[in-house]
Amino acid sequence: MSTHYIVYVSQADAELTQQDLEDILEESRSYNPRHGITGILLFAEREGRYRGSFMQLIEGEEAELETLRKRIFSDPRHHTKVVLERGRKEARDFPDWSMAFKTVARSELGRHPVFCELGDPKFQEKCANEGMDGALSFLCDFWSEAA
Ligand SMILES: Cc1cc2nc3c(=O)[nH]c(=O)nc-3n(C[C@H](O)[C@H](O)[C@H](O)COP(=O)(O)O)c2cc1C
Repeated sequence: MSTHYIVYVSQADAELTQQDLEDILEESRSYNPRHGITGILLFAEREGRYRGSFMQLIEGEEAELETLRKRIFSDPRHHTKVVLERGRKEARDFPDWSMAFKTVARSELGRHPVFCELGDPKFQEKCANEGMDGALSFLCDFWSEAA
């Protein structure tokens, strides 16, 4: 059955802690199943001033996704949110996940020519200015490689 989806990237707040990440996952895994939403959240780590970046896929019914997108985008734990892709696809890619999660080290991104800079604030700027193709397939490939 076809589904709607949204993929976005954002920059984590500089003060983001491990506990924040755990809280976000707990909130997601409580809310999403009640609203028919599945997906994956990647956290690309960076050292120093920039804590890192998020890339998230949410899949489900269109109105539910838009409600959740607004909740997520008004969350102060991240900023500079850029939607990379949205639309309809044949089926869910993460049907069994209320929210799959993976922390990604820079070294793991090295082999992905387009997304190796995920986590760098300049990458975010580039996405905002020029857009970025291939985010959905990157997430699916990355997850299956990691599994
Ligand atoms: C990167 C990121 C991803 C998030 N993903 C989800 C999600 O998939 N589902 C969800 O319910 N909340 C998610 N949240 C948390 C929401 O933004 C929000 O804080 C939470 O739903 C509680 O909202 P409330 O304080 O209005 O009740 C995410 C937050 C961040 C920073």
